[in-house]
Amino acid sequence: MSVAEKFVGMEWGAATEDPKEVLVWLDAHARKFGHFIGGTWVAPADGKYFESADPSTGERLAEVAQGSGTDVDAAVKAARAALAGWQKIGGHARARYLYAIARLVQKHSRRLAVLETLDNGKPIRESRDLDIPLVARHFYHHAGWAQIRDEEFPGYVACGVVGQIIPWNFPLLMLAWKIAPALAAGNTVVLKPAEFTPLTALAFAEICVEAGLPAGVVNIVTGDGETGEALVMHPDVDKIAFTGSTEVGRAIRRATASSHKRLSLELGGKSPFVIFEDADLDSAVEGLVDGIWLNQGQVCCAGSRLLVQESVSDALLEKVRRRMSTLRVGAPLDKAIDVGAIVARVQLERIQRLVAQGKAEGATCWQPEGFALPSKGFYFPPTLLSNVHPASVVAQQEIFGPVLAAMTFRTPREAVELANNTTYGLAASVWSESVNVALQTAAQVKAGVVWVNSTNLFDAACGFGGYRESGYGREGGREGMLEYLEPEWFAKAPATKAASAAEAAETNQRAGSKANGQGDALSMDRTVKLYIGGKQARPDSGYSVEVRGADGSLLGEVPLGNRKDIRNAVEAARKAQGWSKTTAHTRAQILYYIAENFSQRSAEIAGRLARVVGDAQARREVEVGVERVFAYAAWADKFDGAVHNPPMRNISIAMNEAVGTVGVLCPSEAPLLGCLSVVMPLVAMGNSVVAVPSERYPLVIGDLYQVFETSDLPDGVVNMVSGRGVELLRVLAEHADLDALWCFGDEAQCGMAKSLSAGNLKQVFTGEGREIDWFAARAEGKWWLRHAVQVKNVWVPYGE
Ligand code: NAI
Repeated sequence: MSVAEKFVGMEWGAATEDPKEVLVWLDAHARKFGHFIGGTWVAPADGKYFESADPSTGERLAEVAQGSGTDVDAAVKAARAALAGWQKIGGHARARYLYAIARLVQKHSRRLAVLETLDNGKPIRESRDLDIPLVARHFYHHAGWAQIRDEEFPGYVACGVVGQIIPWNFPLLMLAWKIAPALAAGNTVVLKPAEFTPLTALAFAEICVEAGLPAGVVNIVTGDGETGEALVMHPDVDKIAFTGSTEVGRAIRRATASSHKRLSLELGGKSPFVIFEDADLDSAVEGLVDGIWLNQGQVCCAGSRLLVQESVSDALLEKVRRRMSTLRVGAPLDKAIDVGAIVARVQLERIQRLVAQGKAEGATCWQPEGFALPSKGFYFPPTLLSNVHPASVVAQQEIFGPVLAAMTFRTPREAVELANNTTYGLAASVWSESVNVALQTAAQVKAGVVWVNSTNLFDAACGFGGYRESGYGREGGREGMLEYLEPEWFAKAPATKAASAAEAAETNQRAGSKANGQGDALSMDRTVKLYIGGKQARPDSGYSVEVRGADGSLLGEVPLGNRKDIRNAVEAARKAQGWSKTTAHTRAQILYYIAENFSQRSAEIAGRLARVVGDAQARREVEVGVERVFAYAAWADKFDGAVHNPPMRNISIAMNEAVGTVGVLCPSEAPLLGCLSVVMPLVAMGNSVVAVPSERYPLVIGDLYQVFETSDLPDGVVNMVSGRGVELLRVLAEHADLDALWCFGDEAQCGMAKSLSAGNLKQVFTGEGREIDWFAARAEGKWWLRHAVQVKNVWVPYGE
């Protein structure tokens, strides 16, 4: 064959990376690893090991310790023992360790890349050019955060001992995403790598030793789901950070609900890859190669749902098929390979099962012809499913394999509807040559990351994480650091004397409930209604409850709201979601107006409240309340995002978006001020709210709706339903159409809020049943606002 023929044929031979160095390293450990606890290797307490194999051949690489509860306990103890010292050395010293780790990752980069590829099956090209460089970048970036932590996060302290559980798709990168911010913030760590891919984490343990990291700051316990569970359940762990399946994320949410463990979850996705008719189709096809065939599609943010405008669908799919035919599938150590091995047999079987199901549901399946998959190991060919119904299983479930499900749309509006037609919300990719169309779509897609004319870009400076069932919390950037920090005052706040809530319930019980209109009308001061969709509404139950003052006198009646009332209120709140699209300026004006009208009625409002909390507190609640509403009016157009400059030709716009529709259980300590303190930051940031006022003084509904009705607040932005707190909290927590739940009840109620919200994984923000001084300045401001928004990072390329 002539050179010219070879050039045209583009037939390449294998260019295999030499694994020798890694094999020598494995042999040096006699291919058997214990846990890394307290700075040394420790054999598993019960002597059990499991095998880690190369998925491209099925061959055993090493034996790894199976962590038991005893091992986890030893690791947590080591992390706890190291915590004080790690915090005492200060930000600069911590920065130097992180910097040293970054340097060592670079020094050992080739060995780490080969080890990753051997253990995981991903192409060496990816582990070498993407995973490991990003690992180093993450440690460099967070060395910086360690250095400036005190200046940038004044008043914040580290969570403490952090348990981290990671998946197998980006083993070392996920480790870096977890460990770097945790250490930079001043935490110590127990990390459990995935059972299929523990080896690079163990190599990282050696890097910690080489960097001279104090013993116990990083501990690595290997094992399976049971080991993970032991870590989640350990009573001396302060925070759990998890990446993995939504199912396990849900289980962890429930398992940690009754504790004070902080939780961040990075879960699955079914991310849309939206191509408009004016897109550069060739670039979009290259984007798809990265979007769905990177790492064999085993990527949580994979662009697994192709949504293409109907007018270009045939042309685009033809290009996709042509490109798929040139993808090289095979031995991952071959530097010319595009698609490597699937991580394990069970994952391969899962992909096969889901594709078969897709076909059975009517999808057309296309796979390139003319190449044979390797005879050994776990492989699946690049696959295109077209004519996919939006409701079919392959359009809804995470396949986590090299399988693209294609659908079409006609209008931009339909594109957004389809894009959001999933329970997930991790990422999206949008392709259009029109910046207006692309950014308009980006703004409407419910996803934590949106790539415009690009895909699967990551950087340590840019937060990554999901909306909805893709989990909560962000990794990377400022918002990622905040996942490992909390305000010192909150960390130290004592538990509330649950008395007030209990007392209130008792009062109401004493009063009992009566059919409407049978109240003691003569002694009654006031009867209020529910407030739903901007209207005063009667309760579905037809019952109301008497409200009594501190001296037992009858103050009035409030409706006994039930499940149906909450449902109506949520529906009204969802209809009012346009509030998030009103300009921040308008929101600010309306909040100022609320404050003004509130101020005008202050004497009357304080007079009523005084009969429950006494004169002095009532006056202060109103006074500080007015100021609080003013403060959130001020914040409405100031708590905005940031623009990051990742080391690519992109900017990443970090936008603070409203979370959506939020349920709120208001605190009882300061019935009026507490209610304003939790509702107003949500309203200021564009959320719509369903609030349950405290049972102690539910008459606050009447005070507030009179103010709202005269202040131009659009109908449905704030809805209020009174009734039995616990009962209504349960309904809110279980409601599938709420995006978040704020609970400022007692400890048991906060636990219940967390546990019952696991169904749709709504974000939960609670006071942990701690004492909060609602009159203090700290009951207002950025910490609260941060919970009222979620960060969306929109990546926009520039240049030719
Ligand atoms: P998984 O969620 O079971 O595993 C992730 C990690 O959690 C592993 O370290 C595992 O040992 C640990 N784990 C499992 N059960 C646990 C428990 N009860 N408590 C604490 N830790 C536990 O994911 P798996 O089974 O490996 O993959 C199944 C599917 O999950 C995939 O097909 C994919 O759809 C999805 N997945 C999503 C990932 C993502 O990045 N979003 C990563 C891995 C899997």
